[in-house]
Amino acid sequence: MSERLKPDPVPRRSFLSIAGLGTLALAGVGALAGMVRLLKPYVYPEPMARFRLGRPDEFPPGTVKVVPERSIYVISEPEGVAVISLVCTHLGCIVAPADKGFDCPCHGSRFDPKGRVLRGPAPRALLWLEVSQAADGSLMVDANREVKPNTWYRG
Ligand code: FES
Repeated sequence: MSERLKPDPVPRRSFLSIAGLGTLALAGVGALAGMVRLLKPYVYPEPMARFRLGRPDEFPPGTVKVVPERSIYVISEPEGVAVISLVCTHLGCIVAPADKGFDCPCHGSRFDPKGRVLRGPAPRALLWLEVSQAADGSLMVDANREVKPNTWYRG
């Protein structure tokens, strides 16, 4: 028998069928793994937008305090208590209190002590955040609620 007439060890048709079924099985496993992965939430919880600041007597007039874990700056004056966000209005870096105001380490914006822009590229002033009082008397801050600059909470 000549070499040409010898049968293939695995017929071509069978090989293609096996390869096709293998590819289909791999695709099915991949799709199933993707579906199982969707069941697990991949959202990381953000810190609560509304949070307790402390008792009013912790902020007597004249107090200025950075709360780094909340990226806020608390000012207490005879007019009341105010909270300024330390999130830069340019691209969201955290500004640092400086000699007379705040400096952004990322692109050099500078803000005065009340958060007004002294030097860009920040397009607008730092946000003043709503301060309120909880039923137990604690001061509360809502980081999602902006108030007009120079809005003081008097209690
Ligand atoms: S993020 Fe502050 S200046 Fe760009």
